[in-house]
Amino acid sequence: MADGAVRSAKRAGKLANLCKALDERPGGDGLETATTGIGHTRWATHGAPTDRNAHPHTSADGRVAVIHNGIIENFARLRDELESAGVEFASDTDSEVVAHLLAAETAADVGLAAAMRTVAGRLDGAFTLLAVAADEPDLVVGARRNSPLVVGVGAGEYFLASDVSAFIAHTRDAIELGQDQVVTITPKGVEVTDLAGAPAATTAYHVDWDASAAEKGGYDYFMLKEIAEQPKAVADTLRGRLTDAGEITLDEVRLSDQDLRDVDKIFIVACGTAYHAGLVAKYAIEHWTRIPCEVELASEFRYRDPVLDRSTLVVAISQSGETMDTIMALRHAKVQKARVLAISNTNGSTIPRESDAVLYTHAGPEVAVASTKAFLTQLVACYLVGLHLAQVRGIKYADEVAAVVAQLQAMPSKVEAVLATMEPVRELGRSLGTARSVLFIGRHVGYPVALEGALKLKELAYMHAEGFAAGELKHGPIALIDAGTPVVCVVPSPRGRAVLHDKIVSNIQEVRARGARVIAIAEEGDTAVLPHADHVIHVPRTPTLLAPLVSTVPLQVLACEIAATRGHDVDQPRNLAKSVTVE
Ligand code: G6P
Repeated sequence: MADGAVRSAKRAGKLANLCKALDERPGGDGLETATTGIGHTRWATHGAPTDRNAHPHTSADGRVAVIHNGIIENFARLRDELESAGVEFASDTDSEVVAHLLAAETAADVGLAAAMRTVAGRLDGAFTLLAVAADEPDLVVGARRNSPLVVGVGAGEYFLASDVSAFIAHTRDAIELGQDQVVTITPKGVEVTDLAGAPAATTAYHVDWDASAAEKGGYDYFMLKEIAEQPKAVADTLRGRLTDAGEITLDEVRLSDQDLRDVDKIFIVACGTAYHAGLVAKYAIEHWTRIPCEVELASEFRYRDPVLDRSTLVVAISQSGETMDTIMALRHAKVQKARVLAISNTNGSTIPRESDAVLYTHAGPEVAVASTKAFLTQLVACYLVGLHLAQVRGIKYADEVAAVVAQLQAMPSKVEAVLATMEPVRELGRSLGTARSVLFIGRHVGYPVALEGALKLKELAYMHAEGFAAGELKHGPIALIDAGTPVVCVVPSPRGRAVLHDKIVSNIQEVRARGARVIAIAEEGDTAVLPHADHVIHVPRTPTLLAPLVSTVPLQVLACEIAATRGHDVDQPRNLAKSVTVE
């Protein structure tokens, strides 16, 4: 403000709540004439979505305000340090530490930009930060690491945002910022430096999308945007949970090592796509931990009188954290004295709140009804739970943990590699728009991937689609196949259990002999399927248990393309809801 004060207003919930509060304020506080401001729509990671935890966060003297997108992994240590120095915190967020750290630095008169460079250097994790200070009223300082920040360059005005869609109504000229860069905007212009204060090279670009495409980041549908976000989402689920020594650290899972050693049975309960993540998890968890693991549709679980007790671990997987079938299953488990671990994408939602422990997937908001990045991150969270159990229990499979940790670290770039080769899949999708029915087959972890591929097609394209265990074909479903029936085969790695690979090659020949049009999802270098398939979609070499992270992606793209070809609303399919809060 011109009077050298920082004013802030914040409200939990929809933006409309904040607008209403601002409209109702008495006025005369200088807000009408303010020319510099920051604001953030928070998607909760640390601390429930309340007024108190809403951004901006201010320093104790109110002279510095900051907004933050991302996760500050070392916030607990920084918070302890600040509290020991007498700082009182006003929220439960990780973000607030930044306001206090900036206040401490600016007290030495170095200016806000220099303070931001020092503070950003002390943070671990992912952040987009914007800050203002009462002493420098015309300045906004930003910083970024592992989280997006772009500069909008208008006529006599500048903008900072995570995405150009935020300022596209004002300007289409933007500047991209690199990793670990600090930016300042003032009425005079934009300056970008690295964390040491040296001027940094930047890239300017012009955006030519229209405003409605901008909301979707230039993609035609939210689903395509969310499919493209999967490498980052997988990296965000892993972030801070793997050590350089090849171990898993799940500090936020509030179950003691002794509790985890006492577990003698695991039930996974979930619905829809989350249930398919659970089916994959069973293969990994049983292999790594040797604990029996059952996977059950949440809607069936509690009506079946399952055998549960204190040493049973129930894992409830839910993107929204609000699916009523899953809530009722977890309540049933708790009444039976089982311990419940939630895997969820939504901070403060019912399922995490009612569970004994929670592992958040940090996939970011998923808007499209059909789940994509939430599924991949649920898989990653399940792998982490399985590896953590193996590590804590110290059984022979614990030897594998370090090797799998290294393989998991490589997954974001493998998913990226799949996404880079999707054009032929889209073309194939366009040719399948008129198919009457599509079948999906797989073995081992490829079986739940087949179920997920079929579910995506049903949800989006309203086509008959079914997934089968490839070995079951001969026991019935093979009767469905006639000339031209598309059959998508999820082929396991030939470098894994060769018998699985050989068996599915035989299944492919069986369906081909009955006229099927075979579409194989196979590992790079797998030449054995080539002579038997009409189309081969290659995915990067990946160890068998982790392969669903790559083999699911082409099936998402395929379903999306078929649905679009058939003229359907990809993001909001008929009859479906993103979060089903009835039983
Ligand atoms: C709905 C959605 C599905 C989702 C399922 C479970 O049916 O349409 O995409 O997989 O709910 O949702 P949850 O939020 O519990 O993961």
